[in-house]
Amino acid sequence: MTNENDTSSQIQAPIPGEPWLLTPGPLTTAASVKQAMLRDWGSWDEEFRSMTKQLRRELLAMMQDTRNEYECVPIQGSGTFVVEAMLGTLLPRNSRTLVLVNGAYGQRMAGTLKRIGRDHVVIDKGDYLPPRGADVQAALSADANISHVVVVHCETSSGILNPIEEISEVVYAAGRKLLIDSMSGFGALPLTADSLQFEAIVSSANKCIEGVPGFGFVLVRRSELEQAEGCCHSLSLDIYEQWVQMEKTGQWRYTPPTHVVAAFIEALRLHRQAGGVSARLQRYTNNRDVLVAGMQSLGFETLLSDRWLSPIIVTFFNPADKEFEFERFYALMKAKGFIIYPGKLTVVDSFRIGCIGQLDAGVMQSVVKAAGLCLAEMGVTSAQPPSAAHEERLKIAG
Ligand SMILES: Cc1ncc(COP(=O)(O)O)c(C=O)c1O
Repeated sequence: MTNENDTSSQIQAPIPGEPWLLTPGPLTTAASVKQAMLRDWGSWDEEFRSMTKQLRRELLAMMQDTRNEYECVPIQGSGTFVVEAMLGTLLPRNSRTLVLVNGAYGQRMAGTLKRIGRDHVVIDKGDYLPPRGADVQAALSADANISHVVVVHCETSSGILNPIEEISEVVYAAGRKLLIDSMSGFGALPLTADSLQFEAIVSSANKCIEGVPGFGFVLVRRSELEQAEGCCHSLSLDIYEQWVQMEKTGQWRYTPPTHVVAAFIEALRLHRQAGGVSARLQRYTNNRDVLVAGMQSLGFETLLSDRWLSPIIVTFFNPADKEFEFERFYALMKAKGFIIYPGKLTVVDSFRIGCIGQLDAGVMQSVVKAAGLCLAEMGVTSAQPPSAAHEERLKIAG
């Protein structure tokens, strides 16, 4: 339900003159998150160690680890680093992994496994079709050597929300293990240890929890971690070693991103104060609904049908009008204070607008208004996509 008068989101006004980031992380952060970085912290000091302890505890609570079966291990670097750390540490050297691909981030996981020499097979659904439970079931029954399945929760390259619940069911019914890249979803999309079976998920500081970039984290079943000693291909990306060190000393193994951690603690406080995961989902969903309805009223069309649209980021087809040029549109939107995102599809040109970060319905209405003005400035009379876009849309299941 669209609620254009939503005042419950409690977003903080941006610093004057700063653009709004309509990008899926780095994203627009609260002023108090930025302010939290104005102090220096000693990495060895007890105060910083207790911040690390707090973030690990709060992330486990967010995932509702009520049976106390999981560990939270943060690790330095961007999202890709933590995905590689999860794969390298938790996939045994003799494992065989089924990688579910429907966009750039699934492809990157397959590329990572190739690079680190872990045996794998791929189901590639193209740019934006969801991998379905039946696809996974067929692949697992055909190959008894597959031990693990990896999937992206929200494939940020198209914005598709993959059906991880049905995938998890078939993976565990077949006696295999699931690892999830929930980079752009964790903290807003429901994902709890009580309601979903998985061995590990990863996300990073600068996505739905609305911190700044600098570290990611793995939420991993303790029993998997305990078996992972010596498995990782990399010294610095070894989640097992990082965990052992944190348990023993409360410290990160190598220089921690102290300011990023301080900002994250403030972001966690705001997340909690605003009502946690469900409130964040509500705000982002409302952002998406206001955005999509407004853009549709200008004539734009979404790549995905409503069923697969995530509340994280939305892909719109470029208008067919010959006056439309993405680079110009981007520059005009930026001049109006909005940074949007180019598309990542191979067949039809598109662009993306993120719904996450310190944004609310009022901001999304301003985005739509700005888009309308930009079209007029460019002399674009119709935002309708080319007919090839309709054919692509029809291919999408559901
Ligand atoms: C689902 C997903 N996986 C992995 C990544 C990679 O993260 P990074 O660009 O921070 O390395 C991203 C980035 O947006 C993502 O959305």
